[in-house]
Amino acid sequence: MSADPARSPCRQGEQPSPVPAPVPYLVWSEAYRMGDARIDEDHERLLAEINLLIDAINDDCKGAVLIGSLEHILEVGCAHHRREEALLEEMAYPALPDHREEHRCLEDGMRALIARVAAHAIDDPAEIATTVKEWFVEHVIGQDMRYKTYIEERDQEGNRPCP
Ligand SMILES: [Fe+2]
Ligand SMILES: [Fe+2]
Repeated sequence: MSADPARSPCRQGEQPSPVPAPVPYLVWSEAYRMGDARIDEDHERLLAEINLLIDAINDDCKGAVLIGSLEHILEVGCAHHRREEALLEEMAYPALPDHREEHRCLEDGMRALIARVAAHAIDDPAEIATTVKEWFVEHVIGQDMRYKTYIEERDQEGNRPCP
């Protein structure tokens, strides 16, 4: 992650100008853990990719760079969703059809954001960061919290002594 936004490659050739306050990184929370190491690893990777987008925004990158970063987040997110769906299928999670549908909506939401950035419909790049952070915390993690309880209950039953 860049330490000095004023030295970013996206700022080369520019006259020095006041640097806006940097967008804060998305910070991992232990509360995001789902209880399955493979899923947690995926979520941490997604968070790291979002922080690379925040780096690009703080480096004053625009247009194609931001779109490329968003497309990469979408790619990592889609791969995670497919992996998570396979794991939930293995666990016989009963609400999997709804969860799969939610994943499709999340992916469509990210595609819509990319289209808005490509159409220059967002003036302030910090708004892109805010939208992606909400997408991750409220939706990606928020929706997954529903199966966290299922995993916890399943693990407790597995540890219960035989009658
Ligand atoms: Fe997930
Ligand atoms: Fe999910």
